[in-house]
Amino acid sequence: MPFPQTRLRRLRATHALRGLVRETSLDASDLVYPMFVAHGIDRREPIAAMPGVDRLSIAHAVAEAGEAAELGIPAVLLFGLPAAKDEEGSGAWDDEGIVQLATRAIKEAQPDLIVITDLCLCEYTSHGHCGALRPDGTVDNDATLELLAHTAVSQARAGADVIAPSDMMDGRVGFVRTALDEDGHTDTPILAYSAKFASAFYGPFREAADSVPAFGDRRGYQMDPANGSEAVREARLDVDEGADIVMVKPALPYLDLIRRIKDDTGMPVAAYNVSGEYAMVKAAAAAGYLDERAAVLEALTSIRRAGADIVITYHAKDAARWLP
Ligand code: PBG
Repeated sequence: MPFPQTRLRRLRATHALRGLVRETSLDASDLVYPMFVAHGIDRREPIAAMPGVDRLSIAHAVAEAGEAAELGIPAVLLFGLPAAKDEEGSGAWDDEGIVQLATRAIKEAQPDLIVITDLCLCEYTSHGHCGALRPDGTVDNDATLELLAHTAVSQARAGADVIAPSDMMDGRVGFVRTALDEDGHTDTPILAYSAKFASAFYGPFREAADSVPAFGDRRGYQMDPANGSEAVREARLDVDEGADIVMVKPALPYLDLIRRIKDDTGMPVAAYNVSGEYAMVKAAAAAGYLDERAAVLEALTSIRRAGADIVITYHAKDAARWLP
């Protein structure tokens, strides 16, 4: 029935009525807090484009993880800055590497907090690409799979609860699944960065993780921002290879794909509200152009409304404090 019988404003009249008919929830239990752990530092190192986010020593990472747990955030996602980088990225699968050490320390202090480890080589390679290079400078997909598998096993042995491959090599989910199973980690889930786009919004992260490619860019392995159907194919392939959770990244410019992938796969879906999305809000708020709290809660709720079960965000701790 049209107006005047129907008036949608009736259910918007009070806070209580709006709460009663609200379709989407946002709770600290939906959030994952990413952290950068650096080898050989003993104090926090601020990241210029990401106010409020620092590079952390292991001790500081343990403290931050404790704070996140205290706020009701169920999981952290770890990125490592190794002592040294080399052509292959061997720091990634070092059992005494930075992510492995941080994982052990956090699990010891916070056994119930979920530790997710990012699985990629770009923070560990001297050239900054996400895999092994061929002589012509392109990334060798199949040679990289072996290195990723070693890294995944090393992370799982250190106590990682979930392994999150972000490299975008073809076939890596199946390869990592087999390697984990063969090492006895049959119950360790894989959160696959399935639809990871070659995005300008990773800029601040690359400063934070010191992973700007020394030459070229990542368009030879990360997805073309123009492609939606291909993102659905990526997610389906990862599901077939054994992914337990699929991810869309970045989040806000790709809300349509969160919805499509959720509807198409029916899988648990994560979305990564990346460094550039964070930086934009922080910069605008610092300039007085928008209300940070309202903008963050609106953005995170929108990512949930699009279909994400899990939201990975640098705003996690603030949002957890602000949520009722
Ligand atoms: C590693 C990786 C990146 C991000 C997460 N994992 C950077 C990249 O692909 O260049 C970006 C996260 C962010 O921007 O917050 N491959």
